[in-house]
Amino acid sequence: MKTILIKHIKTLYGIIDDATVVKKSGTEMAELTHINDAFLLLKNGRIADFGHSSTIEHLAPTADEIIDATGKMVLPSFIDSHTHIVFAKSREEEFVMRIKGKSYEEIAAAGGGILNSARKLQSMSEDELFEAAKERLFEVIASGTGAIEIKSGYGLTVQDELKMLRVIKRLKAISPITIKATFLGAHAIPTEYKSNRNGYIRLIIDEMLPQVAADQLADYCDVFCDQGFFTVEETSEILTAALGYGLKAKIHGNELGYTGGVQVAVKHNALSVDHLEYTGEEEINCLLKSNTMPVGLPNCSFFLGIPYSPARKMIDAGLPFCLASDYNPGSSPNGRMSFVVALACTQMKLTPEEAINAATINGAYALELSETHGSITKGKLANIIITKPISSLAFIPYHFGEDVIERVIVNK
Ligand code: NIG
Ligand code: FE
Repeated sequence: MKTILIKHIKTLYGIIDDATVVKKSGTEMAELTHINDAFLLLKNGRIADFGHSSTIEHLAPTADEIIDATGKMVLPSFIDSHTHIVFAKSREEEFVMRIKGKSYEEIAAAGGGILNSARKLQSMSEDELFEAAKERLFEVIASGTGAIEIKSGYGLTVQDELKMLRVIKRLKAISPITIKATFLGAHAIPTEYKSNRNGYIRLIIDEMLPQVAADQLADYCDVFCDQGFFTVEETSEILTAALGYGLKAKIHGNELGYTGGVQVAVKHNALSVDHLEYTGEEEINCLLKSNTMPVGLPNCSFFLGIPYSPARKMIDAGLPFCLASDYNPGSSPNGRMSFVVALACTQMKLTPEEAINAATINGAYALELSETHGSITKGKLANIIITKPISSLAFIPYHFGEDVIERVIVNK
């Protein structure tokens, strides 16, 4: 296998020497350890060594490839811990309806939104879905994503949820980056179950979950616990059943109101609770007593015109904070993590260092990938971004809307 030496790096960011550090919380989030004029040695797909350039001369002859990174930064790849990139078609018609004054919830209640995506997905073949999702996967890898989570949730029937999860399994097989699969049968109540909610909960618990588990199609289980979607009690029932199959929880919560999503996630020891646009003192105190990672999805707030998650308040209270793209056709039709980082800086008032930690090491935690991803640490996978020549780290979010990436190196 190949040895790559990257030399004369203007600044190497995201160094964590202590491999036992799995996440950053509170004031630690402002620390993005770096070395100016650095080298990075990658061997057999892993980070073998790094340090100041003055110490590398002896390494050069052994490298298969030498990259001169003069003027460029090197960072760990982004970890996108929340996406829905397996979907059938885009939904511009709803985008225009919202411009004209309809809300996301009104569109959903009228059978649009997730149900619209489900109708489109149900009539699409597994192969077509796979090809479309594969294209999105490679698009986000090129923009710096080095590991990704992908959810089901646009099937909403036994066969279509399984179809989505099989597509994710096929993506795992061909992907150059690690993929985690999340079962999200509880994304919306299908129209035919509108007056029989419990019938759909039973379908999820008695039919979907056993097959998902038997075919080993998912790593996690998600529920959209929010007003107009699933209640706290329904969420609890589904998560308890999922845990019985060894599927940990990752929850959509508190996007549309103070709905108890955070509390139910923590009660079930969820790996993460995501969205959090409505997060008050009670939710913060609850998260402080837990191991659950709070995940913000600022693309959603930007695109739907809803409040941003109060990330500043959460970090100042001592919490960890993670950023993900939520790439999906309804609320975030874009998966570029550098734009997510820019929104976190401009709208949530995170510093560039905090936003990069949120999008790297804390993303790795939210996918149980801390041992291999999320930082420049000896022995971790060689998953990195080499930027174009740029003046500072802050230039990345400052120059929003464009990836200042020259090259990505990924491994799994
Ligand atoms: O995370 N909020 C729930 N689910 C997705 C959006 C789904 C859709 O609108 O298609 C989200 O925003
Ligand atoms: Fe989502």
